[in-house]
Amino acid sequence: MTLLKEDQLTDLEQIIGLSRRSFIGAGALCGAAMFLGGGLLSRSAMATGISAASSQLLGFDSIKAATTDSISLPPGYRSSVLISWGQPLHAAGPAFDPSGNGSAKAQEVQFGDNNDGMSLFAFPDDPNRALMAINNEYTNYRYLYPHGGMPASLEDVRKAQASEGVSVIEIRRTGNGWQFAQGSPFNRRVHGNTPIRLGGPAAGHALLRTGADHSGTLALGTFQNCANGKTPWGTYLTCEENFTDCFGSSDPKQSFDAAQKRYGAVAASKEINWHPHDPRFDLAVNPNELNRHGWVVEIDPFDPHSMPVKRTALGRFKHENAALAETTDGRAVVYMGDDERGEFIYRFISRDRIDHKDPKANRDLLDHGTLYVARFDDGDKNPDLPRGQGQWVELSHGKNGVDTASGFANQGDVLIHARLAGSVVNATRMDRPEWIVVSPKDGQVYCTLTNNAKRGEDGQPVGGPNPREKNVYGQILRWKAHNGDHGADTFDWDLFVVAGNPVVHAGQPKAGSSNITAQNMFNSPDGLGFDDAGRLWILTDGDASNAADFAGMGNNQMLCADPVSGEIRRFMVGPVGCEVTGISFSPDQKTLFVGIQHPGENGGSTFPEHLPDGKPRSSVMAISREDGGIVGA
Ligand code: FEO
Ligand code: CA
Ligand code: CA
Repeated sequence: MTLLKEDQLTDLEQIIGLSRRSFIGAGALCGAAMFLGGGLLSRSAMATGISAASSQLLGFDSIKAATTDSISLPPGYRSSVLISWGQPLHAAGPAFDPSGNGSAKAQEVQFGDNNDGMSLFAFPDDPNRALMAINNEYTNYRYLYPHGGMPASLEDVRKAQASEGVSVIEIRRTGNGWQFAQGSPFNRRVHGNTPIRLGGPAAGHALLRTGADHSGTLALGTFQNCANGKTPWGTYLTCEENFTDCFGSSDPKQSFDAAQKRYGAVAASKEINWHPHDPRFDLAVNPNELNRHGWVVEIDPFDPHSMPVKRTALGRFKHENAALAETTDGRAVVYMGDDERGEFIYRFISRDRIDHKDPKANRDLLDHGTLYVARFDDGDKNPDLPRGQGQWVELSHGKNGVDTASGFANQGDVLIHARLAGSVVNATRMDRPEWIVVSPKDGQVYCTLTNNAKRGEDGQPVGGPNPREKNVYGQILRWKAHNGDHGADTFDWDLFVVAGNPVVHAGQPKAGSSNITAQNMFNSPDGLGFDDAGRLWILTDGDASNAADFAGMGNNQMLCADPVSGEIRRFMVGPVGCEVTGISFSPDQKTLFVGIQHPGENGGSTFPEHLPDGKPRSSVMAISREDGGIVGA
């Protein structure tokens, strides 16, 4: 979704209100380069441009920032549209109606809106076929309905619910590259009203029971699906993020308990407003419905008739993505971030080992295990790239003060209210954890902390991996498990990059770390992806105003980093008004799939596949080299 949450706009306006004009100019750039000398790059490399540096991993030169309404790529690269919002999934399926008059039933069998995280699943016996599971995060009423306003009927609500969730599609490699295979029997939608089983320790809990489901084991729907994970046993994990926004109350004076408040429950659903037409989302009528969302959902893409499962053992919060790893003794590890200012980073470890020979034996592996939350020390306070140590603290009922006395009657309570349990053990309040990825080369874990204009207020201390007050640019955190074992309860951390603007700001903390230059600067890192060679791809969902703190950064973009040298080059710039989110690679690494979410968000889009009248149309793009080589090499 868009960068700004809640009152961040006001925060940013206040910050931007401080004049930076006097800093802009050649002198400022020189000053920034001088200040940053002694970092990962030499002073001469900093001053003359990142392409002069010598990473052997990055085979392209950093491209310029851009504000054009198109996709910019290095020379020798091209892009095409793989699939766009509304394309029918089935043969002779209802065509997309760009006027907004299409029905909810039609949307249920069309590609969903605002594509976000995605994973590719290769067919084991055919290199020219693959499935992709792609999240559909939210919708924009301006373009979903002909009236362009809040839902005015149950049909309107159903259409919005149908536009979110997950789209599973088959793709096939042709002479023209990878193409969407309309009509494949694998094509499927999982949306806001699809039946989904609740699995794991919280299934059946009293807080998950509703009038429609006395058992507390069968939920309806997944929505606000942000990013994703892919298990070693071939299933897809879709992560429910801003689910609370879908709820409201018909009682404007309804009061909420501490847990409901911590998850953001409010009576007036400002932007989504399903509850006046769909009582399932009315907290005055169905308060427990809120507890049935905010989970990680597992989907088997190769079985289009399988029922997805919400894995409650992984905890309930505003899930960004799910990064899989393995302990040295073979158990599954899932790293997860909770994207809210001041919320936490989590780790789940399965009780049982992964069966690599029989994927189906892992069907319910994620139902049994232990949830942990991260605590970081203050580190060495290095003004460039600080480092320190951290630990994982177990969130199990009866341990570490998480017990009946602190308000948890059982493990179900702990998982449903994971945020509250994290506070009991003094977990570290982070700068909005977004994506987490694990390096295929050395197992180090990277996590985007996208920004946090409230850092320094609201009980959020400045320090450790969150080193900047009123952090508008974000940073990428990295940690390395002790003994190389993701099952170890301690780790070393450092910051891989601290984003900033060395042109506008001559000094720290806003110029950014030594691997940020005038040529590669960006803000608000969000998506992350590793390719097989170990290149780290960074996708942004930031302030694209190209002004004040963000002057010279242009539109949202995708960069590529060498994790060893720390060098970062800009690879792609997206069209006006877009967020760049969702990344996946073909098995041969020759096609990079990337999501362009809400291009021209505020209208006037000229981006390919836009709707009549310049309405935006989110799309998945396929990027490849004209010479057929490996992307990024
Ligand atoms: Fe959906 Fe935190 O981004
Ligand atoms: Ca986002
Ligand atoms: Ca995101």
